[in-house]
Amino acid sequence: MTAHPTAADRASATFIQSFNDSAPALVQAPGRVNVIGEHTDYNDGFVLPIALPFTTAIAARPRTDRRVHVESEGFGRAEFRLDDDPRSTEGWARYLHGVAWSLSEHLRDAEADSSGEAGTIVELPGWDGAIATDIPAGASLSSSAAIEVAATLLFNHLAGSPSKLSVADLARVGQRVENEIMGLPSGLLDQLASAGGHAGHATLIDCRDLSTRAVPFPPSATIVVLDTGTRRELVESEYADRQATCAGAADLLGLASLRDATLDDLDRLAEAAAETPNLDSNLAPDVAVRRVRHVVTENDRTLAAVAAMAAGELGELGRLMTESHVSLRDDYEVSGPALDAVVEAALECAGCYGARMTGGGFAGGAIALVATDEVESFCDDLTERYVAPVDQPAVAPLRLYPAPPSAGARILRP
Ligand code: GLA
Repeated sequence: MTAHPTAADRASATFIQSFNDSAPALVQAPGRVNVIGEHTDYNDGFVLPIALPFTTAIAARPRTDRRVHVESEGFGRAEFRLDDDPRSTEGWARYLHGVAWSLSEHLRDAEADSSGEAGTIVELPGWDGAIATDIPAGASLSSSAAIEVAATLLFNHLAGSPSKLSVADLARVGQRVENEIMGLPSGLLDQLASAGGHAGHATLIDCRDLSTRAVPFPPSATIVVLDTGTRRELVESEYADRQATCAGAADLLGLASLRDATLDDLDRLAEAAAETPNLDSNLAPDVAVRRVRHVVTENDRTLAAVAAMAAGELGELGRLMTESHVSLRDDYEVSGPALDAVVEAALECAGCYGARMTGGGFAGGAIALVATDEVESFCDDLTERYVAPVDQPAVAPLRLYPAPPSAGARILRP
């Protein structure tokens, strides 16, 4: 039997077809799911992601000019000039162009830090390349972080590796693309998970200092991705609102971030919010209290989940994941009808320890923790039980993907 070709195989094959040559360099970066620790990254809190077995791969050879020509499987060909503004590049290629800009800035800052003088701009070379992915877009699996991390590895490599990029560096370069080029105020979770995943492990990340700890994932349980086929629309403002509430609440409490908040602070927060004139509606006392309660309890749950995972207590791990969903649904209000319906249906299936939305929320994918030897019957059972809510149209039917924790981004062929 021939194994299904990987994204890396397909990127290499597309390169040969398009450029009549084999590409010297090949890089890949995975998508991610967050087991628990949601909407905590931008509050200096804890997250516990795994890298997925689904990746985005780029095969490329350097050019002698500053142009990038890239053929994608499924999304056509794109071309851009590195000397242009990345915001002038349309569609998915804007991520690649954004990375070139963000990495140049990073390299200049790194040089300035080490020399103590103003850094010089490193001129990254252009390249011919082919890109392929198995990460469904819009399914809360961080397909954009994967393209950013893969492109950062590639540009740095083709430039002769002017800097040895750490996981945190790779993540920051990608985050800056999201924040400054795509206009999304996201945290570091997605890129850290894609850059720093370990096969067979989840990674506990302390977003305050970016320290990490690989936690062995019990082989007797499997994360199953539950892609509801619904896609987010126009919810970036909701994400920004949550961030604004958290930052404003930390301010009212006199804290650097909500990482330092405790449940004892909630009454004080309600009073401070009620007494402060002209606060923005994101800081209405009842709203602020619920949002902060989510962040505080989610940080606690994440650390408890690490202990449960390490002890192989799957029932407890699943319970914490389901509790996280309830908190995101009721206190943080970032779930949606399809995510709630799929979580509820998953919890009714035999072999399911717990389930929750994952990522930013509102639509896309959820996850379930399932006994490994019951994954197949779980998937059949869930497919039968799940009823797509009529008030949230989907672009595709429910799709289920068992997702063993996999390796982070890497250069497969230099
Ligand atoms: C999105 C963002 C992440 C993180 C999650 C919620 O995936 O990109 O930075 O905030 O939402 O945990």
